[in-house]
Amino acid sequence: MRFYNEHIYPWLVSSLGDPKPIQEVRQRIVPLAQGTVLEVGVGPGVNFAHYNPTTVSKVYALEPNRGMVRLAEQHRHQTNLNIEFLDRPGERIPLENASVDTAVSTFTLCTIPGVMDAIRGIRRVLRSSGKFIFFEHGLAPEPSTQRWQRWSEPIPHCLFAGCHVTRHIPSLISEGGFQIEQIESGYLVPFPKSWTYCFWGTARPQSQ
Ligand SMILES: C[S@@+](CC[C@H](N)C(=O)[O-])C[C@H]1O[C@@H](n2cnc3c(N)ncnc32)[C@H](O)[C@@H]1O
Repeated sequence: MRFYNEHIYPWLVSSLGDPKPIQEVRQRIVPLAQGTVLEVGVGPGVNFAHYNPTTVSKVYALEPNRGMVRLAEQHRHQTNLNIEFLDRPGERIPLENASVDTAVSTFTLCTIPGVMDAIRGIRRVLRSSGKFIFFEHGLAPEPSTQRWQRWSEPIPHCLFAGCHVTRHIPSLISEGGFQIEQIESGYLVPFPKSWTYCFWGTARPQSQ
């Protein structure tokens, strides 16, 4: 299992996780990041190329999987960004309260086991003026697709190390203490339809 998680799974994510329609959304939303950034579950580091190095001063790249970090190190060397890896899970973000300007999560909230703890942790470390940029897949709107999603969920769960396709990401983000500022959604990749209904946008911390 360890070999799968640290070698095969990172290779799968690296090979399948950035087709053109997904890359186009990354190109639009990741450059909205500025200042000190926390990216949760950076995986192979495909977002690094989309940060604007003139507006981003530092990226805390949180990633608990060593195999992913090995791949992300290669992407790090292709940028001028100041990147520090944090080898912790998203449920335990090792940063001070209100210490980051932007949090980024792409295709990670589907996988984190304690997703609510992670979202509340992101809320904790974001400054009150901060922004949460998200791009995630999850529960589709049509009941017929939702049935397929529930039926087929064990497959992505096994292949992609705990991935869920039935999480309603906007509700989770709101419950975790954010106000959604801007959101778009839709099927980005035609196959497998039931795994590729995506939500992308930005959220602001709700005042406490
Ligand atoms: C599908 S990959 C997405 C990678 C990358 N963000 C992207 O957009 O391609 C999900 C990532 O979440 C990471 N992950 C799994 N459990 C996690 C946790 N508890 N906290 C933070 N990240 C986690 C995985 O190691 C993996 O890198």
